[in-house]
Amino acid sequence: MTTGAQLRVGLAGLGTVGVGVCKLLAKNAQALEKRCGKKLVITAVSARNRYKERGVDLSGVTWYKDPLALATAEEVDVVVEVMGGSGDPAKALVEAALRAKKPVVTANKALLAEHGRALAQLEEETKTALCAEAAVAGGIPILKTLREGLAANTIFELHGILNGTCNYILTEMLETGRDFAEVLQEAQTLGYAEADPSFDIDGVDAAHKLTLLSAMAFGVEVSMRDTFVEGIRKINAVDIAYATELGYRIKLLGIAKRHEDGRIEQRVHPCMVPKHAPIAKVDGVFNGVVIQGDFVDKIVMEGRGAGAGPTASAVVADLVDIARANTSPLFGQPASLLGPLRSLPLGQRSGTFYVRLMVVDRPGVIAEVSAILRDEQVSLEALLQRGRAPGEAVPVVFTTHDTNEAAMQRALQSISRLNSVIEPPQMLRIESF
Ligand code: NAP
Ligand code: HSE
Repeated sequence: MTTGAQLRVGLAGLGTVGVGVCKLLAKNAQALEKRCGKKLVITAVSARNRYKERGVDLSGVTWYKDPLALATAEEVDVVVEVMGGSGDPAKALVEAALRAKKPVVTANKALLAEHGRALAQLEEETKTALCAEAAVAGGIPILKTLREGLAANTIFELHGILNGTCNYILTEMLETGRDFAEVLQEAQTLGYAEADPSFDIDGVDAAHKLTLLSAMAFGVEVSMRDTFVEGIRKINAVDIAYATELGYRIKLLGIAKRHEDGRIEQRVHPCMVPKHAPIAKVDGVFNGVVIQGDFVDKIVMEGRGAGAGPTASAVVADLVDIARANTSPLFGQPASLLGPLRSLPLGQRSGTFYVRLMVVDRPGVIAEVSAILRDEQVSLEALLQRGRAPGEAVPVVFTTHDTNEAAMQRALQSISRLNSVIEPPQMLRIESF
């Protein structure tokens, strides 16, 4: 696989991550050579635009117009796929490289969330490593931690802030009062966002990562189909202010739990979390992951979840493992042993909720709302109405005790049909951890 004292890298993608990898390999070349016992050298690259200035020295490196050529290029021992996208050419390149017995490093969670099981099977069949540390939580070595450091445990719950762009937006909205669109633009400029930023703000990117964590933690198939996904578009300054007043922070979380009957709950949505919880203090582009194992108890990891440097750190860590011949199966166990995912439907879970209604300020409105909550067995924890604007719209906020989610959804549908309720109710799940 290697030639002399070199591991020759074919790099597909020269965007935020690809350029970050070039810079890291150049800056830390000597230390890496000592740690790996060989030089890590980029010998071939591919991107769409050959003439774009990238701020890195690619002289002497072979340029391929077609990224698939890296899979069979004579001067390439290992392929790094950082183009992105769940289809071709990324998928075709990863498959071709594995078939050509060239280990692959990818940062592509979209690809793995959709084709993870098939690619892990190909990894097994070809006996060629497929590594993806950068695909989850940027610079945090969370896959290695689950696969190696926590290998002795049965994991029953994990949750995390898995999207740097969303966390950056929510933090900036809280701290500076700036609006959603302006902060998103800034996150894109900083290289945090996906090529299609709706993947970030609609929760899809976090869901991709959650499915990979679940597969590894619970030994089940990667399944987007069984994941509830809701993003942060509906979060506004009013709810951020109420959350603060009630002692919470709003975070986009990915949550995966294995219940005693073996069913798995997998969901991504904005949550209110107590402001003193470790995850509430993870701000800006940082990601945080909390894992609960039966013997280790709870561990918390935090680090930068996006951007050139942290992601390159994870990509190159995989290259180091490959250079040292120290790799493990993608999901920590043979793909053939990954079980089916039996999911717990969202409606069957229970939890506590924050609800904000915009209602007409007139007598009897709270009585109408309370009657609906009573009929659905929703028990109120607190109710807040401020201000006085007879005949006009005022916010009414309440939080609930533990409630079945389906009952809460039915109650919200009935409430939204009341004449006195003038906007669709805003509902956020509260997680106490
Ligand atoms: P990016 O900045 O958009 O860069 C993508 C690169 O791939 C560009 O160099 C582009 O070429 C090249 N490319 C795209 N389609 C191609 C094609 N059909 N043929 C050849 N080259 C092609 O993306 P990125 O932010 O670096 O992300 C890359 C991957 O890393 C994605 O899977 C992403 O999800 C993942 N990731 C990103 C981050 C992050 O913080 N950005 C963090 C973790 C994981 P041109 O430059 O010529 O257009
Ligand atoms: N767009 C992703 C994020 C990049 O914001 O977290 C890291 O996967």
